[in-house]
Amino acid sequence: MSNILIQFCYLLAAVLFILGLRGLTSAKTAARGNALAALGMLVAVVAVLLDQDVVDFPTVLAGIALGSALGAVLALRIQMTAMPQMVAVLNGLGGAASALVASTEIVNAVAGTGPVPEGVVPLAVALSVLVGSLTLTGSLVAFAKLQELVGGAAVVYPLQRTTNALMGAAAIAVSVLFIANPLDPALLLGLVALALLLGVLLVIPIGGADMPVVISLLNSYSGIAACATGFVLDNSALVISGALVGASGLILTKIMCDAMNRSLVNVLFGGFGAKPSAGGTEVGVETRTAIGYTPEDAAMIFSNARSVIIVPGYGMAVAQAQHVVREFSEVLREKGIRVQFAIHPVAGRMPGHMNVLLAEANVPYEELVEMDDINPQFVETDVALVIGANDVVNPAAREDTASPIYGMPILDVDRSQHVFVLKRSMNPGFAGIQNELFFNDNTMMIFGDAKATVLKLVEAVRSY
Ligand code: TAP
Repeated sequence: MSNILIQFCYLLAAVLFILGLRGLTSAKTAARGNALAALGMLVAVVAVLLDQDVVDFPTVLAGIALGSALGAVLALRIQMTAMPQMVAVLNGLGGAASALVASTEIVNAVAGTGPVPEGVVPLAVALSVLVGSLTLTGSLVAFAKLQELVGGAAVVYPLQRTTNALMGAAAIAVSVLFIANPLDPALLLGLVALALLLGVLLVIPIGGADMPVVISLLNSYSGIAACATGFVLDNSALVISGALVGASGLILTKIMCDAMNRSLVNVLFGGFGAKPSAGGTEVGVETRTAIGYTPEDAAMIFSNARSVIIVPGYGMAVAQAQHVVREFSEVLREKGIRVQFAIHPVAGRMPGHMNVLLAEANVPYEELVEMDDINPQFVETDVALVIGANDVVNPAAREDTASPIYGMPILDVDRSQHVFVLKRSMNPGFAGIQNELFFNDNTMMIFGDAKATVLKLVEAVRSY
């Protein structure tokens, strides 16, 4: 295949990636955007395979077979609620792949089977190895936290920032030495070791409700590593797609930081999500009890309401209650009640989690209202129905300066006239902290699995 044709395919792939990203900016065009980006990837893969410079076809086919088999098993087995963990692993593997491919250039040059790296290549290898390796271990730590293999809270210790700064400085110093002596394997290995350690050190101080920011940041890092590897291989498709992942990951990180009302520096170095300090409401010391109500008790209040705001959270995803929730919203509407859904940007476990679930249940997009638009409405709302949400409705974020989530914007459900909270127990949410909302005079808890409870609500309100 001629070089011009290959370059044209890369350009076409890049245009399709950009159109794909554009499609993903709105729920209505997201499926088409996804298909366009997948087509772009197909064009890029075919172009690479037809290029003379790649390894032989049996090796490529073996890689495709192994990767597809692993991917299929993972896609079938992973629950929707475990998506963040899967994304973390994928980011980590992407970073590792970039670092390995870039390192191969050095290994080949040292063995005399490849050209001696020159120009921008040593710098690009250093960047790819540094960012790719720290993305691998950082993502593995994030995976372990999200999968609850280790505690999800931030791990903080004395002189942590100093230690991290020294490690970062050491990694940059070794990178500079490596760029000056790219054929010294000891420097490459040293850089890998420092970067792997740095990945762990950078992610352990982040925890609790801050994990969404970490995942999108690691996603961005994996793109930067891929982009650097594109320069190593002189492959424009990899440079462009890596840059797109790096930039869109950074934009998502910014959106996540805004959603948490925090700066990126504060997330990275603030130890946010650490165990509550004195004054914070610590789980386990709670002596009050919240009174449980039944769906039948709730039916009267719902039937007499004029407006209801439904607030879905992670528990709705666990219970897979989205279809019955839509049915309940229709029952309320048949009674002339105004129903809206309030969407918090970090509700659930992945960006857009609630939007995806409710779209799957055919809830019209117009009924989903973003946090800033819905918050002023709670004060004049008769009933707020909280379905498996916890951290995103915790008033401590607004009022308790000692709370680890203080400053995070929340949905102001407590300002509505009545609040029903559907959850199974008094257990805390992702951030691991107690919720004062459950003890408010206008709050009524209905304990049980969200799907089973909403089904009972449907029956109770219908027959009221
Ligand atoms: P959470 O604070 O995690 O609370 C979810 C609640 O759902 C829990 O208190 C749980 O209580 C309840 N629940 C679980 N299974 C249930 C079921 N089958 N039926 C009824 N209730 C059930 O959720 P949230 O309010 O959506 O907040 C999201 C949290 O996750 C935030 O802290 C956010 O920072 C973090 N996070 C978000 C993301 C993204 S990108 N969205 C990624 C990682 C982490 P019971 O056990 O008592 O039932």
